[in-house]
Amino acid sequence: MSNNMMDDLEKILFSETEVASRIKELGEAITQDYTGKEILMIGVLRGAVIFMADLARAIKLPVAIDFMAVSSYGSTTSSSGVVRILKDLDEDVENKHVLIVEDIIDSGLTLNYLMENLWSRKPASIKICTLLNKPDRRKVEVPIAYNGFTIPDYFVVGYGLDFAEKYRNFPFIGVLKPETYEG
Ligand code: XMP
Ligand code: MG
Repeated sequence: MSNNMMDDLEKILFSETEVASRIKELGEAITQDYTGKEILMIGVLRGAVIFMADLARAIKLPVAIDFMAVSSYGSTTSSSGVVRILKDLDEDVENKHVLIVEDIIDSGLTLNYLMENLWSRKPASIKICTLLNKPDRRKVEVPIAYNGFTIPDYFVVGYGLDFAEKYRNFPFIGVLKPETYEG
């Protein structure tokens, strides 16, 4: 394994500056849409943590935050289709305006499950905000209210997204060299 994580990258898709300005825009749109309301941001652990921290500060309204963890891909890059709650919310969502914050929507299976699960708890509303949208491999449609960037079917890392728990702390979004995850 190389010490220089940059060597594992094929290219940078979105620079730190591009990500920051897009998040500012998302925050402004959310601020407008929710004026007069309180938002409960629900981050999907662990990938959404970095995005959520920046998005929360771009929203100029009262926000509460909570987190859920669901089973994901582990160390491989293909979806099992199995979704399991590993950590549930700490707060009640009844009558709250829920904004689900996700790092990336790929097959849509995770968000589809989460939406159904959360609706059963009787919130006032639910919307989805995702940093990245990868529609090519969608298996089930999910309504995305706020989308940072739509990307082709690349495996991306950085800004919270990992490969085998690595690269989450890149301040940009990049594409790994295939040999990094195939090798
Ligand atoms: P689904 O397929 O349920 O999956 O929409 C969403 C989750 O899959 C992970 N995922 C990725 N993680 N780079 C990553 O680091 C990627 O390109 C990628 N595509 C999907 C991610 O955990 C996301 O929450
Ligand atoms: Mg995730």
